Amino acid sequence: MCGIIGYIGKRNAFPILRNGLAKLEYRGYDSAGIAILSEELCIQKDVGKLQEIQFEEFEGPIGIAHVRWATHGRVSKENAHPHSDCHNEIVIVHNGIIENYRELKAKLMGKGHVFRSETDSEVVPHLIEEFTAEGFSFEEAVIHALRMLEGSYTILALKRGEQKIAGARKGSRSLTLGISDDGFLPASDVLAFLEWTNKVVYLKSEDVFFADAARGLRIYNLAEDRFVKRPVDRVKCSAEGVERGEFEHLMLKEISEQDETILRALQQDEEVIQGICDKMHHAIGTFFVGCGSSYHACLAGSYMFSKTAKLHVNVALASEFEHYEHFLTDKTLVFAVSQSGETADVLDAVSAAKRRGSTVVGIVNRDGSILARESDSQLFMNSGPEICVLSTKTYTSQVVLMDLLAYALAGKYEEGLKKIGGLYLDIYNLTSRSMRDYLARLARMLRDTRDIYLIGRGAQYATALEAALKIKEVSYIHAEAFAGGEIKHGTLALIEDEVPCIVFVSNGNKNKILSNAEELKSRGGYIIGVSPENEAIFDHWIKVPDAEELNPIIQIIPMQVLAYQLAVYKGLDPDKPRNLAKCVTVT
Ligand code: M6R
Repeated sequence: MCGIIGYIGKRNAFPILRNGLAKLEYRGYDSAGIAILSEELCIQKDVGKLQEIQFEEFEGPIGIAHVRWATHGRVSKENAHPHSDCHNEIVIVHNGIIENYRELKAKLMGKGHVFRSETDSEVVPHLIEEFTAEGFSFEEAVIHALRMLEGSYTILALKRGEQKIAGARKGSRSLTLGISDDGFLPASDVLAFLEWTNKVVYLKSEDVFFADAARGLRIYNLAEDRFVKRPVDRVKCSAEGVERGEFEHLMLKEISEQDETILRALQQDEEVIQGICDKMHHAIGTFFVGCGSSYHACLAGSYMFSKTAKLHVNVALASEFEHYEHFLTDKTLVFAVSQSGETADVLDAVSAAKRRGSTVVGIVNRDGSILARESDSQLFMNSGPEICVLSTKTYTSQVVLMDLLAYALAGKYEEGLKKIGGLYLDIYNLTSRSMRDYLARLARMLRDTRDIYLIGRGAQYATALEAALKIKEVSYIHAEAFAGGEIKHGTLALIEDEVPCIVFVSNGNKNKILSNAEELKSRGGYIIGVSPENEAIFDHWIKVPDAEELNPIIQIIPMQVLAYQLAVYKGLDPDKPRNLAKCVTVT
C-alpha cells in the first residue's frame, strides 16, 4: 500500500519526485524518502507525513521516492524507504510483500550482509549487491535478484554509476510508466505524473523495465524470459480535483461533490448497461464482491436487486471470496467493485473468477487501474479522483450504479435515470453550510462519547454499516451497526443511559425499525433518527428527504458529514486517519 515514483530525464528529479509523492500520499503516510543520483547518491528519509519532513533539495536527473504504509517493521526512520545495500551503492523503493524475505535475509546475513531495517524490502538491494559482486551487470543482477523473490511487488532500483532506473512489477501491484518528452516516470499511480504526461505504458506482471538515459526504454518479462514490447496508451483521467480548493479538507470537498458525482455515475452507455443486464439474466449465479465501503455498496445493491429487479445476487467480502470459489463456473457472473481498482483482495477474487472461466464486470472509479484493465467489461463511477482515505463520493456512485442496473433489469432504465438524477438537489441541500452547521452541533455533543450504535433494516442496514465505518475510521469512536432486528439477540446488553443510537428510518417501511428504536430507548439509549419525518421517539432528528428505495444514497450523506465534524472537533486529520491507507494492496 505504499506509493513509489521514479524519474530519469533531462530535468532535475527532486521537485518532480517531491510533487509526485504528494499525489501518492493517500497510499501511505507513515514515512517518506527520496534518493537522487548524480555523481553522488543522496538518500533522505524520515517518519511522518510529507509536509512534516524537511527534505533538502538535491540536484540530479535520476531519482526514486517512496511513501510508506507500514506492513513489515514498525514506523521508524530505519524502516523508511529507500533501502540500500551494504555500501550505499544500490538503492531501492518497494511496494508489496516479499513472502520469502526471512529465508533470503538469513542467507544474505550468513554471507556477511549487514541489514539496517526490519523490512522485507531490504533483501532486494542486498540481493542485487550479491549478484553484482559475482560479476553480473546491474541489469543482470536485478533480473537474478527478482527471480529469487516470492510474493507480489513493485520495485524501483538505482545503482551509483549507472544512468538508469530498473523497475519491476509482479502480481496484483500496479506500476505504470509515464513517458514524457524529456524522460520516464514510473509510478504506482498515474496521478503522480499526470501533470507531466498522459502517455503511459502499463507494465504486466513479471515485467522488468530499464529506463536508460542513453538507450531509452527496454522491457524484459521474467516469465517469458525475453525482452518484450508493450503498447503506449493515453490515460483519460486528469489530475484535476486533487486540490482541496476552498475547502478545509479533501474529505469535505469530496462529500460536497456528490450532487454532481451521482449525475456523472449515471453517464453510462445504455447498450453496455443492457448488455450487463442480459448477462445477469442468463448467469447461473451472480456475485458482488468488494471490501470496506465497496462491500457495503454491494450489500445495499443486493436489496435493490431483490426488491426492484426480483433478482437474487450473492454478496461476498472479497477477502472471504475464496470460500465461495468452488461455486464459480463459466456461467457465473462476478461483479468486482472497487474505487481504486487496485485492492489486492478484490484482484485476488478477479483472478479466481478468471481461473474458473467466469465473466468479470468491474465497477471501478480509476481508469487504467488493474481492475479496469483486467475485467471483461467495466462500469466506471466517473467520480474523479478521490484522495481522502475515506470513501464518500465513490460510495454513493457505487450505489447509484447498482440501483441503475436494478432499474434496467426491471425494464425501468429511463425511470431509474430520472429518479436517481432527481436526487441532485436533495444531495446539494444535505451538504449545504446550514446542514453542516447543524451536524457540527451534534458532533460537538457526541465528540466525547465512547460508543455509538447504528441500526437499519433492508438496504438501510447497509447504510448503518457504512455510517459506522465512516465514524470509526475518521473519529476513532467505536461505532457498531446492526440490522434492526438483531439488537435484541445480544447487543441490547450494551445499551445504557445516554448511549447514542442512530436509527435509519424510511417512510414506507418504518414500523419495524421504530419498534427496534423503542427497544433501544427503553434501555436508556439516546435516539438519533435519520428520517424524513420527526418521530416521537427521537431525542434528536436529522431531517432527510424521502427518496424511497433510493434512501441509501441520501441517508449516508449526513453521516459522512457527521463523521467529518467529529474528526474536526477531536482535532484529527480527516484526510489521513491513523493506520490507514487509501489503496490496500496487501491481502
Ligand atoms: O478501492 P476500494 O473500493 O477497493 O477500497 C476498498 C476499501 O479499502 C475502502 O472502501 C475502505 O473501506 C475505505 N477507507 C472506507 O472509507
